[in-house]
Amino acid sequence: MSELIFIEDLPGGRHRPGPDERRQVDCRAAARSVPEVGRGKRFLIKTYGCQMNEHDSEIMAGMLREMGYRPAGSVDEADLILFNTCAVRENAEDKVFGEIGRLKPLKRRHPELLLGLCGCMAQEEKVRHFVRDTFPYVDLVFGTHNLHLLPELVVQAMASQETVFAVWDRPGQVVENLPKLRKEGVKAWVNIQYGCNKYCTYCIVPFTRGRERSRLPEDVVAEVEQLAAEGFKEVTLLGQNVNDYGLDLGTVDFADLLRRVAKVGGIQRVRFTTSNPWNFTDKLIDAVASEEAICEHVHLPVQSGNNRILKRMNRGYTREAYLELVERIRAKIPGVSLTTDIIVGFPGESEEDFQDTLDLVREVKFDNAFTFLYSRRPGTAAARMKDETPPEEKKDRLRRLNELQAAISREYHEKLVGKAVEVLVEGESKTNPDVLAGRTRTNRLVLFRGPRTLIGRLTPVRIVEAQTWLLWGEPVSLMREVSG
Ligand code: 5AD
Ligand code: SF4
Repeated sequence: MSELIFIEDLPGGRHRPGPDERRQVDCRAAARSVPEVGRGKRFLIKTYGCQMNEHDSEIMAGMLREMGYRPAGSVDEADLILFNTCAVRENAEDKVFGEIGRLKPLKRRHPELLLGLCGCMAQEEKVRHFVRDTFPYVDLVFGTHNLHLLPELVVQAMASQETVFAVWDRPGQVVENLPKLRKEGVKAWVNIQYGCNKYCTYCIVPFTRGRERSRLPEDVVAEVEQLAAEGFKEVTLLGQNVNDYGLDLGTVDFADLLRRVAKVGGIQRVRFTTSNPWNFTDKLIDAVASEEAICEHVHLPVQSGNNRILKRMNRGYTREAYLELVERIRAKIPGVSLTTDIIVGFPGESEEDFQDTLDLVREVKFDNAFTFLYSRRPGTAAARMKDETPPEEKKDRLRRLNELQAAISREYHEKLVGKAVEVLVEGESKTNPDVLAGRTRTNRLVLFRGPRTLIGRLTPVRIVEAQTWLLWGEPVSLMREVSG
């Protein structure tokens, strides 16, 4: 049994927890029980934010397909539009509000069009109130914990004149047997863990995704085996803190799970994200180093290079501990690629503190970094901290950091020119159907001209040109020294 479930009760829609919602539900069956609802209709899901959200959208698409819906090519074709939202930064939220505002005329012309908002923004009370007051034509608002109830929520929204708000403030059980409509046939995301307990002071995720829950290893492995049987070649294991995987189960840890997944026949590459600098054990490093299928790429968010700021962020490690971990990883995993996340302009960050971040970036030489301007998230601890740095100065810090990282990333790419790398070919490039796109084991994007028969295969490619964010290559017939 899950814990008590609370469902927000806003005027304009009621949804009370019934006993059924407290036990494990078979979502496939639930979706199939209302198939005629979507027959002849089309859906569109707009996804914002992280890979977890991308994967949630695949799950929702899977449920909608079981209800008879088909994907729509555009907003105008759609009978149901869902916004699967991100709450991590304010500008992503503003974008969603802008898009929903622009749909008002369409909704007026087609009142039967269903509009829904889900994902992390839906978990925020202030967002729900804003939607109620500003966009009363939104039909459905549901959260991250009850996404599996989509089929019945759609039915309710169809029947209701008012917005249906259905947001659980706490997670129920981990729900298995969710149908998924995955985008492509080469690589797939697999959830291994939901939620986050870490409460970094800037971050909204623990409030929108709840406490950490791990899927059972046998369920993860069964899903990966199924993917292999369907012809997928690569899986990325997803969680907010994958290296905490299993702590709540007590019988298995992340290194054990990685090794089991790496042994699934047919899966040639295993990736994982996001790992964190705490609890990154030698056992985990050894697993990555010794299992052939596990790619030598670690995404290890550092956020800041200054100890005072790291403490204010509640990150739980120091600059020195981070650097020591980088050393341990590099010593045991030859050729490992390290990427990171960095926040610039956290409340109280001085120019000197920021210099420590630049220093750390120079010292570690990350292969790539995702850099963000601090965004104040109401309800988090950092939102109550004094933040006196002018926005212009913060932007200038971000510019300097990006310049530094771009130079480092480019340097890595230039060193690869003339070398052969192993590429898993994913498909046509986004901008040119005559060009194939794939990734190295270290997750670098490689574009090259070659036969479409290579799609889905591991192929040696010689790098001929380096750009900052991608590489150009040409296929080599015989694989000799392969790196990168
Ligand atoms: N402001 C800016 N960046 C943030 N991140 C998380 N919360 C915030 C915030 N409030 C960044 C962190 C995290 C990444 C996914 O998003 O760097 O690692
Ligand atoms: Fe947010 Fe920190 Fe959890 Fe990552 S570890 S999701 S940054 S609270």
